[in-house]
Amino acid sequence: MSVAYQLVEWLADGRFQSGETLGQRLGVSRAAVWKQVRELERLGLEVQAVRGKGYRLAERLELLDVEAIRSALTPASRNALAAIEYFHELDSTNDYLRAHGEAVSGTVCLAERQTRGKGRRGRNWVSPYGANLYLSLSWRFESGLSALAGLSLVVGIALVRALRQLGVEGAGLKWPNDIYLQGAKLAGVLIEVSGESAGPCSAVIGIGVNVAMPEQQGRHIDQRWTDLHTHGIPVSRNQLAAALLEQLLPALGEFARHGMQPFQEEWQRHDLSYGVPVQIRHAESALSGLGLGIDRDGAFLLETPEGIRRFTSGEVSLRITP
Ligand code: BTN
Repeated sequence: MSVAYQLVEWLADGRFQSGETLGQRLGVSRAAVWKQVRELERLGLEVQAVRGKGYRLAERLELLDVEAIRSALTPASRNALAAIEYFHELDSTNDYLRAHGEAVSGTVCLAERQTRGKGRRGRNWVSPYGANLYLSLSWRFESGLSALAGLSLVVGIALVRALRQLGVEGAGLKWPNDIYLQGAKLAGVLIEVSGESAGPCSAVIGIGVNVAMPEQQGRHIDQRWTDLHTHGIPVSRNQLAAALLEQLLPALGEFARHGMQPFQEEWQRHDLSYGVPVQIRHAESALSGLGLGIDRDGAFLLETPEGIRRFTSGEVSLRITP
């Protein structure tokens, strides 16, 4: 672990620690401690330095805690997981699992920060340190890739269920996998699949939830966004991770057994585009109509003057038009 991340762990409780003590614990000079403090500021953490007292984080920081997450899970969910891996920093939790854990179904990867967090359609997912939830899960399906079309919708539903359990009411879904709260994007899902179209295959399910996005970092987001903090919802990231897994794991089981159909009605209840004017864009072309919800396979239905059109591709983007 880098010295800066060691320092974060010691300062996370928000109490003052003298430069001397920190230097001794880290085995470096006081000047070197100061250098590391600057490093924390570069990560977006505000550090207070007070003569005679030392350093502290301006705000207490709840780091992710694998044991806290594990112990908040029911035995069934614990058993469904192979491992929970935790990192202070990764390029992307999805990329990590694709490179290391994909073969082992039920591996969770969590990071405090992503340096190259990935969004859909080549976008960047802004992932500052300790602020939000960046979670990926590898999962193996026997059904084949062609049966996974609705998977991202099921993940969205699990996320809405988890948020509601934590007191977040009114989260809505935008096909195929955006979670909105009061007109702005709160969370996103990026699923990367590999394997056979009609045989065993695996998915890396990546979920990003904005919990308390620092203003500064939020400026890099190129769409309307929100976080739980803005809505006065003080959610513990550990509780959120546990609640999410608790909803996601049984939902994946249900999806593997019965497909999208058991989720269709619930999707409709949260569907932000149902019965409203929308535009579907693909490359250079755009098609407007009314959202008609999803079919049994999770494909998007658009009512146009020429009839109902059906869209399955992850490469189209949906815009709710005012
Ligand atoms: C989107 O809405 O564009 C999808 C965002 C997905 C972000 C998550 S954060 C954890 C996982 N790792 C990544 O690099 N991306 C996903």
